[in-house]
Amino acid sequence: MRTPMDDKTRKQSPPPPVWYEAGLGHVWLPYAQMKTMRPPLAVARTEGCRIVLADGRELIDGIASWWTACHGYNHPHIRVAVERQLKSMPHVMFGGLVHEQALTLARRLAALLPDDLDRVFFCESGSVAVEIAMKMALQYWRNRGVRTRQKFVAFKGGYHGDTTGAMALCDLDVGMHDMFRGALPEQFILDVPQDETTETALERLLQSRADEIAGIVIEPLVQGAGGMRFHAPEVLQRLRTFADRFDLLLIFDEIFTGFGRTGALFACEAAGVVPDIITLSKALTGGTLPLAATIARRKVFEAFWSDDPKQALMHGPTYMGNALACAAANASLDLFEQEPRLQQVRAISEQMTEELGPARELPGVKDVRVKGAIGVVELEKIDDLEALRARFIAEGVFIRPFGNVIYLTPAFTIAARELAQLTGAIVRVLKTIN
Ligand SMILES: Cc1ncc(COP(=O)(O)O)c(C=O)c1O
Repeated sequence: MRTPMDDKTRKQSPPPPVWYEAGLGHVWLPYAQMKTMRPPLAVARTEGCRIVLADGRELIDGIASWWTACHGYNHPHIRVAVERQLKSMPHVMFGGLVHEQALTLARRLAALLPDDLDRVFFCESGSVAVEIAMKMALQYWRNRGVRTRQKFVAFKGGYHGDTTGAMALCDLDVGMHDMFRGALPEQFILDVPQDETTETALERLLQSRADEIAGIVIEPLVQGAGGMRFHAPEVLQRLRTFADRFDLLLIFDEIFTGFGRTGALFACEAAGVVPDIITLSKALTGGTLPLAATIARRKVFEAFWSDDPKQALMHGPTYMGNALACAAANASLDLFEQEPRLQQVRAISEQMTEELGPARELPGVKDVRVKGAIGVVELEKIDDLEALRARFIAEGVFIRPFGNVIYLTPAFTIAARELAQLTGAIVRVLKTIN
Protein backbone atom coordinates (compact mmCIF):
# COMPACT_ATOMS: atom_id res chain seq x y z
CA MET A 1 0.00 0.00 0.00
CA ARG A 2 1.27 3.48 -0.80
CA THR A 3 1.77 5.30 2.47
CA PRO A 4 -0.25 8.43 3.17
CA MET A 5 2.82 10.57 2.69
CA ASP A 6 3.35 9.23 -0.86
CA ASP A 7 0.03 10.68 -1.83
CA LYS A 8 0.53 14.12 -3.29
CA THR A 9 -2.96 15.24 -2.39
CA ARG A 10 -2.19 14.85 1.29
CA LYS A 11 1.06 16.82 1.35
CA GLN A 12 -0.58 19.97 2.67
CA SER A 13 -2.84 18.16 5.13
CA PRO A 14 -2.00 17.78 8.80
CA PRO A 15 -0.13 14.55 9.58
CA PRO A 16 -2.34 11.49 10.08
CA PRO A 17 -3.16 10.58 13.68
CA VAL A 18 -0.75 8.39 15.60
CA TRP A 19 -3.22 5.49 15.74
CA TYR A 20 -3.43 5.56 11.93
CA GLU A 21 0.31 5.28 11.34
CA ALA A 22 0.72 2.68 14.08
CA GLY A 23 -2.21 0.47 13.12
CA LEU A 24 -2.49 0.61 9.35
CA GLY A 25 0.25 -1.94 8.80
CA HIS A 26 -1.71 -4.48 10.84
CA VAL A 27 -5.16 -4.30 9.35
CA TRP A 28 -6.45 -6.17 6.28
CA LEU A 29 -9.07 -4.07 4.49
CA PRO A 30 -12.12 -5.32 2.56
CA TYR A 31 -12.33 -5.58 -1.22
CA ALA A 32 -8.89 -4.07 -1.60
CA GLN A 33 -5.58 -4.94 -3.21
CA MET A 34 -3.56 -3.92 -0.20
CA LYS A 35 -0.39 -3.34 -2.19
CA THR A 36 -1.72 -0.82 -4.68
CA MET A 37 -4.76 0.71 -3.00
CA ARG A 38 -4.84 4.36 -2.09
CA PRO A 39 -4.54 4.90 1.63
CA PRO A 40 -7.91 4.73 3.39
CA LEU A 41 -9.29 7.90 4.91
CA ALA A 42 -8.95 8.31 8.67
CA VAL A 43 -12.39 9.02 10.13
CA ALA A 44 -12.70 10.97 13.36
CA ARG A 45 -16.47 10.88 13.71
CA THR A 46 -19.80 10.81 11.93
CA GLU A 47 -22.78 13.11 12.25
CA GLY A 48 -26.10 13.07 10.40
CA CYS A 49 -25.14 12.52 6.76
CA ARG A 50 -21.53 13.57 7.21
CA ILE A 51 -18.27 11.76 7.71
CA VAL A 52 -15.73 13.95 9.51
CA LEU A 53 -12.13 13.05 8.72
CA ALA A 54 -9.25 13.21 11.13
CA ASP A 55 -7.68 15.99 9.06
CA GLY A 56 -10.79 18.12 9.56
CA ARG A 57 -12.42 17.63 6.15
CA GLU A 58 -16.12 16.76 6.04
CA LEU A 59 -17.62 14.50 3.41
CA ILE A 60 -21.30 14.23 2.58
CA ASP A 61 -22.05 10.54 2.65
CA GLY A 62 -23.76 9.12 -0.43
CA ILE A 63 -23.61 5.48 0.64
CA ALA A 64 -24.83 5.47 4.28
CA SER A 65 -22.14 2.97 5.24
CA TRP A 66 -23.08 0.21 2.84
CA TRP A 67 -26.77 1.16 3.06
CA THR A 68 -27.12 0.72 6.80
CA ALA A 69 -27.40 4.22 8.28
CA CYS A 70 -30.91 4.93 7.05
CA HIS A 71 -31.65 7.50 9.81
CA GLY A 72 -28.28 9.22 9.40
CA TYR A 73 -25.40 8.65 11.78
CA ASN A 74 -25.61 8.95 15.56
CA HIS A 75 -29.37 9.27 15.73
CA PRO A 76 -30.05 10.28 19.35
CA HIS A 77 -33.02 7.92 19.74
CA ILE A 78 -30.89 4.89 18.85
CA ARG A 79 -27.94 6.14 20.90
CA VAL A 80 -30.07 6.52 24.03
CA ALA A 81 -31.61 3.05 23.57
CA VAL A 82 -28.19 1.43 23.20
CA GLU A 83 -26.77 3.34 26.18
CA ARG A 84 -29.72 2.25 28.31
CA GLN A 85 -29.27 -1.37 27.26
CA LEU A 86 -25.52 -1.20 27.89
CA LYS A 87 -26.19 -0.35 31.52
CA SER A 88 -28.39 -3.37 32.17
CA MET A 89 -27.04 -6.09 29.85
CA PRO A 90 -24.89 -5.73 26.73
CA HIS A 91 -25.15 -9.37 25.79
CA VAL A 92 -26.26 -12.72 27.08
CA MET A 93 -26.03 -15.99 25.17
CA PHE A 94 -29.23 -16.99 23.39
CA GLY A 95 -28.87 -20.71 24.08
CA GLY A 96 -31.48 -21.54 26.72
CA LEU A 97 -31.85 -17.83 27.57
CA VAL A 98 -33.95 -15.07 26.05
CA HIS A 99 -34.35 -11.37 26.79
CA GLU A 100 -36.76 -8.52 26.27
CA GLN A 101 -35.02 -6.77 23.39
CA ALA A 102 -34.74 -9.87 21.18
CA LEU A 103 -38.27 -11.09 21.83
CA THR A 104 -39.72 -7.62 21.33
CA LEU A 105 -37.82 -7.28 18.08
CA ALA A 106 -38.94 -10.72 16.87
CA ARG A 107 -42.57 -9.84 17.64
CA ARG A 108 -42.29 -6.48 15.88
CA LEU A 109 -40.63 -7.93 12.77
CA ALA A 110 -43.29 -10.64 12.58
CA ALA A 111 -45.98 -7.95 12.78
CA LEU A 112 -44.35 -5.84 10.05
CA LEU A 113 -43.76 -8.68 7.60
CA PRO A 114 -46.64 -9.98 5.51
CA ASP A 115 -48.75 -13.04 6.23
CA ASP A 116 -47.23 -15.77 8.41
CA LEU A 117 -43.58 -14.80 8.04
CA ASP A 118 -43.36 -14.87 11.78
CA ARG A 119 -40.49 -17.01 13.08
CA VAL A 120 -37.28 -15.02 13.47
CA PHE A 121 -33.78 -16.52 13.72
CA PHE A 122 -31.13 -13.92 14.62
CA CYS A 123 -27.47 -13.77 13.63
CA GLU A 124 -24.85 -11.05 13.14
CA SER A 125 -24.32 -10.56 9.43
CA GLY A 126 -26.14 -10.66 6.14
CA SER A 127 -24.03 -13.45 4.69
CA VAL A 128 -24.71 -15.65 7.70
CA ALA A 129 -28.43 -14.88 7.46
CA VAL A 130 -28.29 -16.15 3.87
CA GLU A 131 -26.39 -19.29 4.97
CA ILE A 132 -29.09 -19.91 7.56
CA ALA A 133 -31.84 -19.45 4.98
CA MET A 134 -30.10 -22.02 2.77
CA LYS A 135 -29.67 -24.41 5.68
CA MET A 136 -33.32 -24.01 6.68
CA ALA A 137 -34.38 -24.77 3.11
CA LEU A 138 -32.15 -27.83 2.82
CA GLN A 139 -33.28 -29.20 6.14
CA TYR A 140 -36.92 -28.38 5.41
CA TRP A 141 -36.73 -31.05 2.73
CA ARG A 142 -34.61 -33.50 4.72
CA ASN A 143 -36.99 -33.32 7.67
CA ARG A 144 -39.75 -34.23 5.24
CA GLY A 145 -37.77 -37.23 4.03
CA VAL A 146 -36.63 -35.70 0.73
CA ARG A 147 -32.86 -35.90 0.31
CA THR A 148 -32.57 -35.08 -3.39
CA ARG A 149 -33.39 -31.37 -3.10
CA GLN A 150 -29.94 -29.96 -2.45
CA LYS A 151 -29.53 -27.16 -4.96
CA PHE A 152 -30.74 -23.60 -5.37
CA VAL A 153 -31.80 -21.45 -8.26
CA ALA A 154 -30.36 -17.94 -8.06
CA PHE A 155 -29.88 -15.20 -10.63
CA LYS A 156 -27.36 -13.45 -12.83
CA GLY A 157 -26.53 -10.04 -11.39
CA GLY A 158 -27.21 -11.35 -7.89
CA TYR A 159 -25.11 -10.90 -4.78
CA HIS A 160 -25.81 -12.65 -1.48
CA GLY A 161 -22.63 -12.36 0.56
CA ASP A 162 -19.05 -13.47 0.95
CA THR A 163 -19.31 -16.72 2.93
CA THR A 164 -18.99 -19.96 1.00
CA GLY A 165 -22.65 -20.90 0.64
CA ALA A 166 -23.70 -17.32 -0.10
CA MET A 167 -20.87 -16.88 -2.63
CA ALA A 168 -22.19 -19.89 -4.53
CA LEU A 169 -25.50 -18.05 -5.02
CA CYS A 170 -23.80 -14.99 -6.51
CA ASP A 171 -23.34 -14.32 -10.19
CA LEU A 172 -19.69 -15.33 -10.45
CA ASP A 173 -19.40 -13.60 -13.84
CA VAL A 174 -20.08 -10.10 -12.49
CA GLY A 175 -19.13 -10.50 -8.88
CA MET A 176 -15.84 -10.73 -7.13
CA HIS A 177 -15.90 -14.43 -6.38
CA ASP A 178 -14.95 -15.61 -9.85
CA MET A 179 -11.69 -17.19 -8.71
CA PHE A 180 -13.55 -19.63 -6.48
CA ARG A 181 -15.33 -21.21 -9.42
CA GLY A 182 -14.94 -24.95 -9.05
CA ALA A 183 -14.39 -24.75 -5.30
CA LEU A 184 -17.98 -23.75 -4.54
CA PRO A 185 -21.08 -25.93 -4.68
CA GLU A 186 -22.60 -25.41 -8.11
CA GLN A 187 -25.99 -23.78 -8.14
CA PHE A 188 -28.31 -22.98 -11.03
CA ILE A 189 -27.63 -19.32 -11.87
CA LEU A 190 -30.16 -18.12 -14.45
CA ASP A 191 -31.22 -14.85 -16.03
CA VAL A 192 -33.85 -13.01 -14.01
CA PRO A 193 -37.09 -14.10 -15.74
CA GLN A 194 -38.10 -10.73 -17.14
CA ASP A 195 -39.27 -11.76 -20.60
CA GLU A 196 -40.55 -14.79 -22.47
CA THR A 197 -37.12 -16.23 -23.26
CA THR A 198 -35.78 -16.02 -19.73
CA GLU A 199 -39.06 -17.19 -18.25
CA THR A 200 -39.07 -20.21 -20.55
CA ALA A 201 -35.46 -21.01 -19.61
CA LEU A 202 -36.41 -21.07 -15.94
CA GLU A 203 -39.52 -23.10 -16.59
CA ARG A 204 -37.55 -25.68 -18.60
CA LEU A 205 -35.01 -26.05 -15.83
CA LEU A 206 -37.73 -26.53 -13.25
CA GLN A 207 -39.61 -29.00 -15.44
CA SER A 208 -36.53 -31.19 -15.76
CA ARG A 209 -34.76 -30.73 -12.41
CA ALA A 210 -37.16 -29.42 -9.76
CA ASP A 211 -36.66 -32.59 -7.73
CA GLU A 212 -33.02 -31.52 -7.17
CA ILE A 213 -33.90 -27.99 -6.11
CA ALA A 214 -34.61 -26.85 -2.56
CA GLY A 215 -35.48 -23.25 -3.32
CA ILE A 216 -35.23 -20.11 -5.41
CA VAL A 217 -33.25 -17.17 -4.02
CA ILE A 218 -33.51 -13.58 -5.24
CA GLU A 219 -32.92 -10.01 -4.10
CA PRO A 220 -36.41 -8.66 -4.74
CA LEU A 221 -36.83 -5.58 -7.00
CA VAL A 222 -33.18 -4.49 -6.85
CA GLN A 223 -30.06 -6.58 -7.21
CA GLY A 224 -27.57 -4.45 -5.31
CA ALA A 225 -23.89 -5.30 -5.17
CA GLY A 226 -24.11 -7.25 -8.44
CA GLY A 227 -24.77 -4.04 -10.39
CA MET A 228 -27.74 -2.12 -8.95
CA ARG A 229 -30.12 -3.72 -11.47
CA PHE A 230 -33.87 -3.30 -11.15
CA HIS A 231 -36.64 -5.67 -12.13
CA ALA A 232 -40.42 -5.39 -12.13
CA PRO A 233 -42.67 -6.75 -9.35
CA GLU A 234 -44.14 -9.16 -11.92
CA VAL A 235 -40.84 -11.06 -11.85
CA LEU A 236 -41.43 -11.84 -8.20
CA GLN A 237 -45.03 -12.81 -8.81
CA ARG A 238 -43.80 -15.16 -11.55
CA LEU A 239 -41.27 -16.70 -9.17
CA ARG A 240 -43.98 -17.24 -6.57
CA THR A 241 -46.11 -19.01 -9.18
CA PHE A 242 -43.19 -21.22 -10.23
CA ALA A 243 -42.28 -21.97 -6.62
CA ASP A 244 -45.86 -23.06 -5.93
CA ARG A 245 -46.15 -25.07 -9.12
CA PHE A 246 -42.87 -26.94 -8.61
CA ASP A 247 -43.12 -27.09 -4.82
CA LEU A 248 -40.00 -25.00 -4.09
CA LEU A 249 -39.23 -22.63 -1.25
CA LEU A 250 -39.02 -19.01 -2.32
CA ILE A 251 -36.35 -17.03 -0.49
CA PHE A 252 -36.14 -13.24 -0.67
CA ASP A 253 -32.84 -11.71 0.32
CA GLU A 254 -33.99 -8.27 1.51
CA ILE A 255 -30.71 -7.43 3.18
CA PHE A 256 -30.32 -4.45 0.85
CA THR A 257 -33.94 -3.75 -0.08
CA GLY A 258 -35.51 -4.07 3.38
CA PHE A 259 -36.48 -1.10 5.56
CA GLY A 260 -37.65 1.36 2.97
CA ARG A 261 -34.76 1.45 0.52
CA THR A 262 -36.91 0.70 -2.56
CA GLY A 263 -39.81 2.90 -1.47
CA ALA A 264 -41.92 0.38 0.47
CA LEU A 265 -40.92 -0.90 3.90
CA PHE A 266 -40.13 -4.26 2.26
CA ALA A 267 -39.81 -5.03 -1.43
CA CYS A 268 -41.97 -8.14 -1.02
CA GLU A 269 -44.79 -5.94 0.16
CA ALA A 270 -44.46 -3.65 -2.88
CA ALA A 271 -44.65 -6.71 -5.13
CA GLY A 272 -47.53 -8.27 -3.19
CA VAL A 273 -45.58 -11.52 -2.89
CA VAL A 274 -44.95 -13.48 0.30
CA PRO A 275 -41.72 -15.49 0.23
CA ASP A 276 -41.27 -18.58 2.39
CA ILE A 277 -38.09 -17.25 3.96
CA ILE A 278 -36.75 -13.69 4.08
CA THR A 279 -33.36 -12.35 5.15
CA LEU A 280 -32.85 -8.92 6.70
CA SER A 281 -29.80 -7.01 7.94
CA LYS A 282 -28.07 -3.72 6.92
CA ALA A 283 -30.61 -1.05 7.99
CA LEU A 284 -32.08 -3.32 10.68
CA THR A 285 -30.15 -1.49 13.41
CA GLY A 286 -30.07 1.83 11.58
CA GLY A 287 -26.36 1.32 10.91
CA THR A 288 -25.23 1.10 14.51
CA LEU A 289 -24.55 -2.53 15.41
CA PRO A 290 -24.23 -5.78 13.47
CA LEU A 291 -27.45 -7.79 13.37
CA ALA A 292 -29.30 -9.90 10.83
CA ALA A 293 -32.36 -12.08 10.80
CA THR A 294 -33.71 -15.01 8.80
CA ILE A 295 -37.46 -15.17 9.06
CA ALA A 296 -39.50 -18.21 8.10
CA ARG A 297 -43.14 -18.78 7.33
CA ARG A 298 -45.09 -21.16 9.48
CA LYS A 299 -44.89 -24.07 7.05
CA VAL A 300 -41.09 -23.90 7.12
CA PHE A 301 -40.97 -23.74 10.91
CA GLU A 302 -43.45 -26.59 11.20
CA ALA A 303 -41.13 -28.90 9.25
CA PHE A 304 -38.71 -28.59 12.19
CA TRP A 305 -41.38 -29.02 14.91
CA SER A 306 -40.95 -32.61 16.02
CA ASP A 307 -40.26 -34.96 18.91
CA ASP A 308 -37.05 -35.93 17.13
CA PRO A 309 -34.07 -33.82 18.30
CA LYS A 310 -32.39 -34.51 14.95
CA GLN A 311 -35.06 -32.45 13.22
CA ALA A 312 -34.03 -29.28 15.10
CA LEU A 313 -32.17 -26.47 13.35
CA MET A 314 -28.63 -27.00 14.60
CA HIS A 315 -27.37 -23.47 14.29
CA GLY A 316 -26.51 -20.86 16.90
CA PRO A 317 -24.05 -18.02 16.29
CA THR A 318 -22.37 -16.95 19.56
CA TYR A 319 -23.63 -13.38 19.38
CA MET A 320 -27.10 -14.17 18.05
CA GLY A 321 -29.78 -11.92 19.49
CA ASN A 322 -27.16 -9.56 20.94
CA ALA A 323 -29.05 -7.30 23.33
CA LEU A 324 -27.35 -4.06 22.28
CA ALA A 325 -28.00 -4.76 18.60
CA CYS A 326 -31.62 -5.74 19.27
CA ALA A 327 -32.11 -2.55 21.34
CA ALA A 328 -30.73 -0.55 18.40
CA ALA A 329 -33.06 -2.37 16.00
CA ASN A 330 -36.09 -1.72 18.21
CA ALA A 331 -35.16 1.95 18.36
CA SER A 332 -34.72 1.98 14.58
CA LEU A 333 -38.22 0.51 14.17
CA ASP A 334 -39.54 3.25 16.51
CA LEU A 335 -38.10 5.80 14.10
CA PHE A 336 -39.83 4.18 11.14
CA GLU A 337 -43.06 4.50 13.13
CA GLN A 338 -42.50 8.02 14.42
CA GLU A 339 -40.76 9.80 11.57
CA PRO A 340 -41.87 10.05 7.94
CA ARG A 341 -39.21 7.77 6.46
CA LEU A 342 -41.14 6.52 3.45
CA GLN A 343 -42.16 10.06 2.56
CA GLN A 344 -38.51 11.05 2.78
CA VAL A 345 -37.63 8.17 0.44
CA ARG A 346 -40.21 9.47 -2.06
CA ALA A 347 -38.72 12.97 -1.92
CA ILE A 348 -35.19 11.59 -2.39
CA SER A 349 -36.43 9.56 -5.32
CA GLU A 350 -37.94 12.59 -7.02
CA GLN A 351 -34.88 14.74 -6.42
CA MET A 352 -32.47 12.09 -7.70
CA THR A 353 -34.61 11.49 -10.77
CA GLU A 354 -34.50 15.19 -11.59
CA GLU A 355 -30.88 15.86 -10.72
CA LEU A 356 -29.27 12.71 -12.09
CA GLY A 357 -31.38 12.87 -15.27
CA PRO A 358 -28.97 15.22 -17.11
CA ALA A 359 -26.20 12.61 -16.75
CA ARG A 360 -28.07 10.53 -19.30
CA GLU A 361 -26.86 12.89 -22.05
CA LEU A 362 -23.20 12.66 -21.09
CA PRO A 363 -20.72 10.60 -23.10
CA GLY A 364 -19.96 7.17 -21.66
CA VAL A 365 -23.24 7.01 -19.73
CA LYS A 366 -25.24 3.87 -20.48
CA ASP A 367 -28.21 4.33 -18.17
CA VAL A 368 -29.56 6.45 -15.35
CA ARG A 369 -32.16 4.86 -13.08
CA VAL A 370 -33.76 5.56 -9.74
CA LYS A 371 -35.87 3.38 -7.47
CA GLY A 372 -36.78 4.56 -3.99
CA ALA A 373 -33.65 5.97 -2.38
CA ILE A 374 -31.34 4.25 -4.86
CA GLY A 375 -29.90 6.36 -7.67
CA VAL A 376 -27.72 4.75 -10.31
CA VAL A 377 -25.60 6.08 -13.14
CA GLU A 378 -24.36 3.14 -15.16
CA LEU A 379 -21.36 3.82 -17.38
CA GLU A 380 -20.05 1.93 -20.40
CA LYS A 381 -16.99 1.23 -18.27
CA ILE A 382 -14.94 2.67 -15.46
CA ASP A 383 -11.22 2.42 -16.19
CA ASP A 384 -9.84 3.43 -12.83
CA LEU A 385 -12.24 2.98 -9.93
CA GLU A 386 -9.78 4.21 -7.33
CA ALA A 387 -9.11 7.41 -9.26
CA LEU A 388 -12.84 8.02 -9.66
CA ARG A 389 -13.43 7.47 -5.95
CA ALA A 390 -10.66 9.97 -5.21
CA ARG A 391 -12.31 12.52 -7.52
CA PHE A 392 -15.44 12.34 -5.43
CA ILE A 393 -13.49 12.79 -2.22
CA ALA A 394 -11.92 15.90 -3.75
CA GLU A 395 -15.49 17.12 -4.38
CA GLY A 396 -16.28 16.71 -0.68
CA VAL A 397 -18.54 13.68 -1.08
CA PHE A 398 -18.19 10.01 -0.21
CA ILE A 399 -19.38 8.02 -3.22
CA ARG A 400 -17.98 4.57 -3.91
CA PRO A 401 -18.51 3.39 -7.48
CA PHE A 402 -17.99 -0.29 -8.26
CA GLY A 403 -17.95 -2.30 -11.52
CA ASN A 404 -19.37 0.16 -14.02
CA VAL A 405 -21.83 1.92 -11.74
CA ILE A 406 -21.83 5.09 -9.71
CA TYR A 407 -24.65 4.98 -7.21
CA LEU A 408 -26.23 6.85 -4.34
CA THR A 409 -27.97 5.22 -1.38
CA PRO A 410 -28.07 8.11 1.09
CA ALA A 411 -29.60 8.21 4.55
CA PHE A 412 -33.34 8.87 4.31
CA THR A 413 -32.83 11.91 6.53
CA ILE A 414 -30.48 13.64 4.11
CA ALA A 415 -31.28 17.32 3.53
CA ALA A 416 -32.21 18.34 -0.02
CA ARG A 417 -29.14 20.59 -0.27
CA GLU A 418 -26.82 17.76 0.81
CA LEU A 419 -28.39 15.43 -1.73
CA ALA A 420 -27.95 18.14 -4.36
CA GLN A 421 -24.25 18.21 -3.51
CA LEU A 422 -24.05 14.46 -4.12
CA THR A 423 -25.91 14.52 -7.43
CA GLY A 424 -24.09 17.68 -8.49
CA ALA A 425 -20.72 16.05 -7.81
CA ILE A 426 -21.66 13.04 -9.95
CA VAL A 427 -22.72 15.16 -12.92
CA ARG A 428 -19.67 17.46 -12.57
CA VAL A 429 -17.19 14.61 -12.34
CA LEU A 430 -18.78 12.76 -15.27
CA LYS A 431 -18.47 15.88 -17.42
CA THR A 432 -14.73 15.86 -16.91
CA ILE A 433 -13.85 12.16 -17.17
CA ASN A 434 -15.31 11.22 -20.55
C1 LIG B 1 -28.48 -8.61 -0.80
C2 LIG B 1 -27.34 -8.90 0.11
N1 LIG B 1 -27.26 -10.09 0.70
C3 LIG B 1 -26.26 -10.39 1.56
C4 LIG B 1 -25.27 -9.46 1.83
C5 LIG B 1 -24.15 -9.81 2.78
O1 LIG B 1 -24.28 -9.09 3.95
P1 LIG B 1 -23.03 -8.93 4.94
O2 LIG B 1 -22.05 -8.05 4.24
O3 LIG B 1 -23.60 -8.31 6.16
O4 LIG B 1 -22.49 -10.29 5.19
C6 LIG B 1 -25.31 -8.22 1.22
C7 LIG B 1 -24.25 -7.23 1.46
O5 LIG B 1 -24.05 -6.30 0.72
C8 LIG B 1 -26.37 -7.92 0.33
O6 LIG B 1 -26.47 -6.75 -0.28
